[in-house]
Amino acid sequence: MQLQFEQVTHTYQAGSPFQSTAIRDVSLTLGSGELTALIGHTGSGKSTLAQHMNALLAPTSGRVLLDGKDINQKGVSKKETRQRIGLVFQYAETQLFEETVAKDVAFGPKNLGLSQAEIDARVKEALHRVGLPEEIAEKSPFELSGGQMRRAAIAGVIAMRPEMLVLDEPAAGLDPMGREDMLALVRSFHQAGTSIVMISHSMDDVARLAQRIIVMDQGQVALDGPAEEVFQDADQLNQMDLDVPQVCKLALRLREEGFDFPLCYRMEDAEKALTALLKGGKPHA
Ligand SMILES: Nc1ncnc2c1ncn2[C@@H]1O[C@H](COP(=O)(O)OP(=O)(O)OP(=O)(O)O)[C@@H](O)[C@H]1O
Ligand SMILES: [Mg+2]
Repeated sequence: MQLQFEQVTHTYQAGSPFQSTAIRDVSLTLGSGELTALIGHTGSGKSTLAQHMNALLAPTSGRVLLDGKDINQKGVSKKETRQRIGLVFQYAETQLFEETVAKDVAFGPKNLGLSQAEIDARVKEALHRVGLPEEIAEKSPFELSGGQMRRAAIAGVIAMRPEMLVLDEPAAGLDPMGREDMLALVRSFHQAGTSIVMISHSMDDVARLAQRIIVMDQGQVALDGPAEEVFQDADQLNQMDLDVPQVCKLALRLREEGFDFPLCYRMEDAEKALTALLKGGKPHA
């Protein structure tokens, strides 16, 4: 699967006095198997970009191609696009509306026209995958805790068996334990073969999870590359009012002090390097 943005610009309320261009001239390609983080300051256009990934928003100019086909062209099924590319909104739990969790999770599969047996199987599987106990299937979503509600909402998207999952700030507003669990969940989806695009404000979360990082700044792609490269650009990130992970700061500080310490952004790598440093050995860069 390949999702390609070709010079995509989106202007909200074009032609009105309130018009605002949220993304401008964005070109990028997302491929199978990737775990990509989308970061950027508030208002930089992340959510707008995400909503173009499954044709929820259409470009004002430019094109979005899925396996070479323009997803906004007439005759291209939006339903199929949205099955293949699942979008989990920020605070997705606010979109739950059915009387039971099972019905909510079943909503997407039902729309796909699957048999009742297949729908039931998918609901069961999806609840299992997001770590919710089967007993809650018949409960009202509003009886669940906030974290469980968010999982139920994610289950509804997972039940469509998307090839790519786009998550808009999935850990927002969760306590540290909840964040931890959410990151583990995202990682488990990726390990099961789903491509992931995760929007996040937390550099530490991103450092622990992402292989590739796309940085948005004022509606444009400012940086796009492997995590280890993007985090080396501490100056540019700072200019965009973004931080680097704590671990990077530690590594940079040690290097400034003259220690032979590698640039790193993962806690595990820093631990290894520190151990080597303390033993007097030479850590490898
Ligand atoms: N429905 C809308 N109508 C008009 N302008 C909008 C609309 N949605 C977003 N915008 C504007 O578009 C720009 C980008 O917004 P967007 O929500 O995509 O940014 P974001 O990076 O997701 O921000 P955040 O980190 O706060 O979620 C902002 O200036 C915002 O005010
Ligand atoms: Mg947003």
